[in-house]
Amino acid sequence: EQIEKGGFDHFMLKEIYEQPSVIKDTYRGRLLANKGIIKLGGLEDYIEKFTNADRIIIVACGTSWHAGLVAEYIFEDLARIPVEVEYASEFRYRNPIITEKDVVIAISQSGETADTLAAIKLAKEKGAFVYGICNVVGSTISRETHSGTYTHAGPEIGVASTKAFTTQITVLTMIALKLAKVKGTISHSDYMLHLRELETIPAKVEEALQSDAHIKVIAEEFKNARNFLYLGRGYNFPVALEGALKLKEISYIHAEGYPAAEMKHGPIALIDEEMPVVVIAVNSNHYEKVVSNIQEIKSRAGRIIAVVTEGDTLVKEMADYIMEVPHTPESLTPLVTTIPLQLLSYHIAVMLNRNVDQPRNLAKSVTVE
Ligand code: G6P
Repeated sequence: EQIEKGGFDHFMLKEIYEQPSVIKDTYRGRLLANKGIIKLGGLEDYIEKFTNADRIIIVACGTSWHAGLVAEYIFEDLARIPVEVEYASEFRYRNPIITEKDVVIAISQSGETADTLAAIKLAKEKGAFVYGICNVVGSTISRETHSGTYTHAGPEIGVASTKAFTTQITVLTMIALKLAKVKGTISHSDYMLHLRELETIPAKVEEALQSDAHIKVIAEEFKNARNFLYLGRGYNFPVALEGALKLKEISYIHAEGYPAAEMKHGPIALIDEEMPVVVIAVNSNHYEKVVSNIQEIKSRAGRIIAVVTEGDTLVKEMADYIMEVPHTPESLTPLVTTIPLQLLSYHIAVMLNRNVDQPRNLAKSVTVE
């Protein structure tokens, strides 16, 4: 097992560090940025299903559901296709409205999650076209879907998902860009920019990983907190949810993710010096609004850990701690802002002596309903 961990203390840490290379593996041969080409084998024959669709329904569970939420922003923003993101377990029992004009995308690392599988079967019965995004080759979901794209993250052993999440987002981004190009909802220059930027993501993830030692210091400072709040907006709202989930899963600290602007409708009542707030405050359309959220937290004595774009000075002055990530176009920020949050939960869990790779009560693949 020590050999399989490749010198890392845990599989989870190894998998966090593998992200630059597996993101590259996921787009290798599929993304030819200089030529302006995205080629996804499973998609080529079915592009019209997507471009003619009334809407895309994404079904998934857990971290894969968070990847689906990120995709909602990318698909609507770039490809202008309405998207609904559903917990597979809710969707299937709700007597949902599905027609032949719907495309359903099922996202699953393992390809074996029982609720996601049941949602797929239901969608197929109702005549929808079902597309799978799985990591495990030959898995049940990859066989049950009409077509799909594999993430090439390699085996994910840590129960808390890390590299599966970022590679799912990589695939979903490529699909959105491809559809945007075909539909003409993106300008050529913006399309080319996104392709080139996507190619720089592995290097940017690598750079984000270099904050590891600094993040360990932050983990030490906050490891005894009983609760955490995670806030983000737009593309980084799902990242806030995922950050909170990671902390819950492996450290057993209660954490909640919230869209930053919703803070005033509830969570703000909880803020005091005992409540660390992780705020994703990278350069984006919402930057100023998030800055004012930070001020609101500060005036209530909340302690702030902020994820900021490299070179940020405003938030740096206000936050107790910052975790820097390289600049990327807003639609690609989840791929980098996720990294420090993974490391933060990892270090806190290690410091609390938790079983990082196999947290209590959790399973890697949930094959029961
Ligand atoms: C379990 C795992 C999570 C995972 C979820 C969905 O809860 O512990 O890490 O995100 O199932 O799994 P899937 O394989 O469908 O992505």
